[in-house]
Amino acid sequence: MTDQKIFIFDTTLRDGEQVPGCKLNTKEKIELALALESLGVDIIEAGFPISSPGDFESVSEISKIIKNATVCGLSRAVEKDIEVAGLALKHAKRGRIHTGIGTSDSHIKSKFNSNREEILLRAVQAVKWARNYTDDVEFYAEDAGRTDNKYLAKVVEAVIAAGATTVNIPDTTGYCLPNQYGEKIAFLKNNVSNVDKAILSCHCHNDLGLATANSIAGAINGARQIECTINGLGERAGNTALEEVVMVLKQHAHLGLYTSIDAPQLNPLSRLVSETMRMPVQPNKAIVGANAFSHSSGIHQDGFLKDSQTYEIIRPEEVGAETSKIVLTARSGRSALAYRFKNLGHEFNRNDIDILYDQFLQLADTLKEVHDNNLRSLAIQYLESKNK
Ligand code: KIV
Ligand code: ZN
Repeated sequence: MTDQKIFIFDTTLRDGEQVPGCKLNTKEKIELALALESLGVDIIEAGFPISSPGDFESVSEISKIIKNATVCGLSRAVEKDIEVAGLALKHAKRGRIHTGIGTSDSHIKSKFNSNREEILLRAVQAVKWARNYTDDVEFYAEDAGRTDNKYLAKVVEAVIAAGATTVNIPDTTGYCLPNQYGEKIAFLKNNVSNVDKAILSCHCHNDLGLATANSIAGAINGARQIECTINGLGERAGNTALEEVVMVLKQHAHLGLYTSIDAPQLNPLSRLVSETMRMPVQPNKAIVGANAFSHSSGIHQDGFLKDSQTYEIIRPEEVGAETSKIVLTARSGRSALAYRFKNLGHEFNRNDIDILYDQFLQLADTLKEVHDNNLRSLAIQYLESKNK
């Protein structure tokens, strides 16, 4: 079978921007939208047009300048929301309305004080309203992760019949295990008669740290779109991280799934998003964290210096990261120390390194990290004592 494309639906500017403190103005959103387009995302969810005049303006301005990606606006299953989203997307070369409603019993009862039949009708109606503005309509079954699969299948079938071209199956609360989420997608693929007329999409939250695993499980089971954000930003614990799904699919090419993302842009874009949203990236974040390509324990450093592949499955340049780093701490070893001295122009022999290593350890026990200036002082003292 030929490899299948996974469409990347980026929601950094919508779900990501919902993070407290991450709000963006129109100029900032435009800058990030252009960077996302250059990265190669297929769909940019630019905002929630009815939520504020500023967000309407952002979606509208982004629609005017984005040429290759589809621009998407969010709405609830409410006529006015959909009308405003349609207006905001008026200038888009390719515009998508993303509308939907909660389908889990918890949402149906607690949020809407309603019942399954009525919610199904509202879902269908929302898709029909949206189709008045564009042929590209995505429906989201909010809290699909906790929705009964048989009812979910009925909703999915009905919204596809009403004209939805993509159906989003959000694990809104990040509740599912990867096998459960994968089985949910497989159930829909096997039990929705018209499923071939639409793309199923994964939108997984990270409340249990499973967002990426769940999205990949969804794709393995037949979903062809993944909704994600740069740096995994999003409500609460965040969304699936774009950089993670892209690299999982690259690393595991045997899955036969690929994206159009230009991976060397991942780290520069991660930094741009972090700076623009004023939201630091955790150092141990996969692919884009400051420590993603750092080696600090002696055992790892020794192996890495012999062959980088012993401890790195991705080359930093593949994802636009700086070169791998050998960090010196009290857990580091002689190979790493010799390597760092060599980088500073000091080629010490094995005997020298044995003596210097003892001095290094005494210093390292007093510091979090031993830097070049510390090494220079060590080298100077050592050479002076040797020449006496
Ligand atoms: O998490 C969610 O369910 C959402 C929907 C609005 C798609 O963000
Ligand atoms: Zn979400």
